[in-house]
Amino acid sequence: MSKIIVIGAQWGDEGKGKIVDWLAEKANIIVRFQGGHNAGHTIVVGKKEFKLSVLPSGILREKKLCIIGNGVVLDPWVLLKEIDTLKKLGVNITKNNLIISSSISLILPIHSIIDNLRESKSGKKLIGTTGRGIGPAYEDKIARRSLRLYDLNDEKLVEEKVRLIVDHHNIWLKSFNYKLVDANEIIENILSISNKIICYADEVWDILDKHNTKDSKILYEGAQGIMLDIDHGTYPYVTSSNTVSGQAFTGSGSSLKNINKILGVIKAYSTRVGSGPFPTEDDGEDGQNLGELGKEFGTVTGRKRRCGWLDLIQLKKSITVSGITNLAITKLDVLDSFNIIKVCIGYKIGEIKYTSFSMDLINKGNLKPIYKTFPGWLSNTYGITEYNLLPNKAKAYLKYIEKSLKCPIDLISTGPDRKNLIKINE
Ligand code: GDP
Ligand code: IMO
Ligand code: MG
Repeated sequence: MSKIIVIGAQWGDEGKGKIVDWLAEKANIIVRFQGGHNAGHTIVVGKKEFKLSVLPSGILREKKLCIIGNGVVLDPWVLLKEIDTLKKLGVNITKNNLIISSSISLILPIHSIIDNLRESKSGKKLIGTTGRGIGPAYEDKIARRSLRLYDLNDEKLVEEKVRLIVDHHNIWLKSFNYKLVDANEIIENILSISNKIICYADEVWDILDKHNTKDSKILYEGAQGIMLDIDHGTYPYVTSSNTVSGQAFTGSGSSLKNINKILGVIKAYSTRVGSGPFPTEDDGEDGQNLGELGKEFGTVTGRKRRCGWLDLIQLKKSITVSGITNLAITKLDVLDSFNIIKVCIGYKIGEIKYTSFSMDLINKGNLKPIYKTFPGWLSNTYGITEYNLLPNKAKAYLKYIEKSLKCPIDLISTGPDRKNLIKINE
């Protein structure tokens, strides 16, 4: 391993945190490059369970440099709270193992207010955001209004920029007779914590360049999943950043050179939180069982995740738009008790068949998945760490996925713990 990009290939929550944590053992640097605290990763290490939202999932490993790149939108209060929680759990976080891009855009309290109010007004068009202010923060970034980390060095600039942001959003709040946001309060609050966060700021592009020449082992960690990508996902039911592999470069300032692998993380079935198209969603008993057995509740909002079967048509698009070279498949154990396991190999509207995930088609809403069925293995795979010990029917399921997607499976996860993993290719 030298440089690997790890991304979710479905609608998020594929188990990226667990996979990155495992890969991080052999890495020098772990870089988050997009999203914010809409992400929620659960990592289980023995009896301890860690929940991460903004810190890279390499943070639990000792002597690793964790970097939060410019492509992330960062809520400084959430960051400090996460650092504090982890410190209490015995994780050491200092300037030596955490660097944040000086040019990162900050999420301010006004962003979540706007996010939640907009959602409350959207009726049937509700996106089901995490309410963390991610969309409004990225909007401010694109509109060139953001308060960026290095701005915190200049009190006057902080004041000027916060007023600009608040004035902009207050116009909208006023038009709906909502309570206006007080810029002074935000200015005071951000300045009171600025020293605690500015100490992590640095020029990430430069640091990564130096490590590139030293040939350090770098992991680029994506949040969300490709179907939530602002361009390639199920727009408008997406997040507000690019989640595809290309974002690893723009979201960190790293060069395109020397990437050895783009690892797509997939669940052995599919889930989605929030609204939007999900062709293989199962509203019946199977979906219910997948949710219960897979404990499919959001890490961030606690919302119930919608569940359904693996969708090879959707995954082919993800692999194509992200150049995924290898796969990690998680939660195989969740399928242990199913008599029949389904995989979507196409869609149908009436008698017409389709085998492409075009948004025009997906948005039609009345398409039915065409399934290939597999007999369930009906035995325990939980915690298995050797491929040979998997039941033959589970191997047949995995082989079919590999063959159809023309993409080798490197890792198979068989339980939430760091140790519950089968390595096929290192
Ligand atoms: P992420 O956002 O992609 O990192 O995924 P989440 O952490 O939000 O959701 C994945 C959930 O599945 C977490 O609760 C993990 O602890 C759990 N998990 C990960 N891999 C496995 C696995 O192989 N089997 C089981 N049963 N649970 C897993
Ligand atoms: P991780 O990194 C699953 C979803 C939200 C909503 C949509 C937009 O844990 O896989 P946002 O708050 O980003 O504006 O919400 O995106 N979403 C996620 N779903 N996992 C995530 O992250 C998600 N981050 C955002 O549920 O549908
Ligand atoms: Mg998650």
